[in-house]
Amino acid sequence: MAAGGHVAGRRDSPRGPAVLDLGAGTGHHLAGVLDALPGALGIALDTSRPALRHAARAHPDIAAVVADVWQALPVADAAIDLVLDVFSPRNGAEMARVLKPGGVALVVIPTAEHLAELADLHQVNVDPEKVERLERTVGAHLERQSRELVRWTMDLTAEEVAAVLKMSPAGSHRRGGDPPRAATVTGSVELWRFRRSDTRASS
Ligand SMILES: C[S@@+](CC[C@H](N)C(=O)[O-])C[C@H]1O[C@@H](n2cnc3c(N)ncnc32)[C@H](O)[C@@H]1O
Repeated sequence: MAAGGHVAGRRDSPRGPAVLDLGAGTGHHLAGVLDALPGALGIALDTSRPALRHAARAHPDIAAVVADVWQALPVADAAIDLVLDVFSPRNGAEMARVLKPGGVALVVIPTAEHLAELADLHQVNVDPEKVERLERTVGAHLERQSRELVRWTMDLTAEEVAAVLKMSPAGSHRRGGDPPRAATVTGSVELWRFRRSDTRASS
């Protein structure tokens, strides 16, 4: 795990696309993307060292780096082909700076339906202003190309429900003291695709 300075690719060229995951957590999503892009190099940024320890092991081509994504990212200008941001803070100006011209940012945000069944049971709420904020923060710096709703259901055990609630920002606001129960819950997210135009889009 590295901290500070710019991230250097660990292989000599030629190399595949560079994928940067902001707030990568355990690296689960980045690992999936790297599996689909043979030869790609993944960079996982997060403030959580425990999460990054998982990310570093999630795929052999992930470099895990401690970094606050609200600050200048430890990545050179126009070095990245694909930025991922799944349920994490979104620094649109820095996304635009590190993306190559034509590079793509995929941003995933929960909809109001996400884990709605748990909201009934345990008061887990999704911020209704997320969409407006995404337009303002990322849309101001990159060209929005598409917006897609992805919806699915999950049969969760009581232990998995407990784990979801623990991860949720609202998890500490649970009503009552009932232990979590097994539940079938809805997953519902929006996948937004942004692109850095060939001429510099950011300010
Ligand atoms: C809801 S989790 C999502 C993790 C991962 N993207 C996923 O979908 O599994 C949000 C992540 O953002 C990280 N995070 C929060 N604030 C951050 C910041 N300012 N800079 C970097 N990472 C941050 C947290 O540590 C956490 O790992």
